Amino acid sequence: MQKTRESFLVYLGKAMIYLVYAHPYPSQSRANRVLLDAVRDLPGIEVCSLYDRYPDFGIDIVAEQAALSRARLVIWMHPVFWYSVPGLLKHWFDKVLSYGWAYGDGGAALRGKDCLWVATTGGKLETYSVEGIHQRPFADFTRPIEETARFCGMNWLEPSILHGAHEMEAPQLAAGGLQLRERLETWLATHGGDASTAGAGP
Ligand SMILES: Cc1cc2nc3c(=O)[nH]c(=O)nc-3n(C[C@H](O)[C@H](O)[C@H](O)COP(=O)(O)O)c2cc1C
Repeated sequence: MQKTRESFLVYLGKAMIYLVYAHPYPSQSRANRVLLDAVRDLPGIEVCSLYDRYPDFGIDIVAEQAALSRARLVIWMHPVFWYSVPGLLKHWFDKVLSYGWAYGDGGAALRGKDCLWVATTGGKLETYSVEGIHQRPFADFTRPIEETARFCGMNWLEPSILHGAHEMEAPQLAAGGLQLRERLETWLATHGGDASTAGAGP
């Protein structure tokens, strides 16, 4: 497969948000595609589709760390697979969030940055309960992701989770996309980015 980079800067060359997108089959996505399309043209956002850019799992650690260093908000967006992140995002954690850079001795590169987890699940909200098929509240599955961010000194924001994505009709998905866009616009407005001056992607 040819390597493609779906990564661009749109806010006067200044990326305040780095959105790491991890869908193993981007062309088959319904829910994540809507969420991504709703925000990808926001000013100050840089998007990296991991499975498009690194189909062989050969992550460019220097480039990823540089993108993270530029950002003030880091977003991890993906469908939930087996109560966790897709394999390439886990690999990205393992390679990019390295000792001496993200944590440990001198590892302060991400300290103070905001981190937003945006995920979709097949299971509806009520299936994530003691009575439901998943037997636990969804928050129980959040912990490893949350602690990954916290361990690197990032500020963990309230996650944006779209439950029951399998069965959602187009209008519901669109509403989810709009809600996420409004949330990021608010974040940009309060962090020095002007969400009204949207730039153009390629
Ligand atoms: C391998 C695999 C594992 C999955 N594991 C879960 C899971 O643990 N919990 C859940 O609610 N949904 C699970 N799903 C459903 C996906 O989360 C769901 O299809 C996705 O969020 C829909 O988003 P999309 O339209 O962008 O693909 C799984 C799907 C696949 C293919």
